[in-house]
Amino acid sequence: TSQPLILGIETSCDETGVGLVRGTTMLANAVASSVDEHARFGGVVPEVASRAHLEAMTPTLHRALDEAGVGLEDVDAIAVTAGPGLAGALMVGVSAAKALAIAVDKPLYGVNHLVGHVAAEQLENGALTEPVVALLVSGGHTELLEVSDVASAAKLLGGTIDDAAGEAFDKIARLIGLPYPGGPHIQKAAADGDPSSIRFPRGLTSERDMTRHRYDFSFSGLKTAVARWVETAERDGVPVPVADVAAAFQESVADVLTRKAVLACQERDIGTMVLAGGVAANARVRDLARERCAEAGIELRQPRLSLCTDNGAMIAALGAAVVEQNLEPSAPDFATDSSLP
Ligand code: KG4
Ligand code: ZN
Repeated sequence: TSQPLILGIETSCDETGVGLVRGTTMLANAVASSVDEHARFGGVVPEVASRAHLEAMTPTLHRALDEAGVGLEDVDAIAVTAGPGLAGALMVGVSAAKALAIAVDKPLYGVNHLVGHVAAEQLENGALTEPVVALLVSGGHTELLEVSDVASAAKLLGGTIDDAAGEAFDKIARLIGLPYPGGPHIQKAAADGDPSSIRFPRGLTSERDMTRHRYDFSFSGLKTAVARWVETAERDGVPVPVADVAAAFQESVADVLTRKAVLACQERDIGTMVLAGGVAANARVRDLARERCAEAGIELRQPRLSLCTDNGAMIAALGAAVVEQNLEPSAPDFATDSSLP
């Protein structure tokens, strides 16, 4: 094909990702994770993540090139996550990308990690052809976005006013004695639980909140409710039904996320919803989104699980869209921005 070959590099958190993409076709997606090194601390330790990226970068790059059956000299442009994310972790990826861009004398694009999550979906179902509502749910962010083209600015419809959805999963996991990262472990525990056995609150869904915070989310009240419930059980000497608590918590998160995303589609007259980010890998979120979108006549686009969590192919996919729009490469002295909006 004549489409340019884009190399994508991702190091914003604890996954070192290197991907290769042409247009919306994925050729390679190599990921190395330092998640096991962080597990005993109950969360990502920034310095540990940075060192792990430094160690994993070159081997992961070679794995990606091998997987695609190409050489570095075949790469036409490089995209790298400039932010948001952990400052030191981002610097490892951007340093590597700058060095590679010099070595192969090709343009370099510093791109937004969050938009990369949305761009990942294009590797699944092709380029977006009309505006979509994106439900972006990760460890650091929870936002409803209106996106017409991933290479152009997205419109922020709403977002969390406290914890991100993934953060809530991670905190609740800790509370009920499940390992980090909480999301997958809660999902697994919830499979044996009854989601209707406990009714946890749905954040920002009261009539009053729906006027002021229509497309916003809040998970801190839910977190407090789960903590109180567990404390009460422990005080009464009752064994905590971990599976039921996990299922009821997961149900509350999935309910609010999908309810507000569908509402945004309906009220903004948008026919397509895109799920993106690590929490979009959650089976209950996916099922409920599918069910509610079908009911509302909304087309649902969601990437496979490996494209939901952090990876390099999503950054390459965004790079491909940016190159296709003929946007200017980043200046040679561009910096990382850990709080890039
Ligand atoms: O997008 P991501 O890989 O990294 C960030 O950009 O933050 O998201 C990581 C988050 C973590 O909080 C993790 O617990 C959550 O996504 N996660 C899940 C699942 N898999 C990952 N949450 C719920 N269910 C899952 N199956
Ligand atoms: Zn992410």
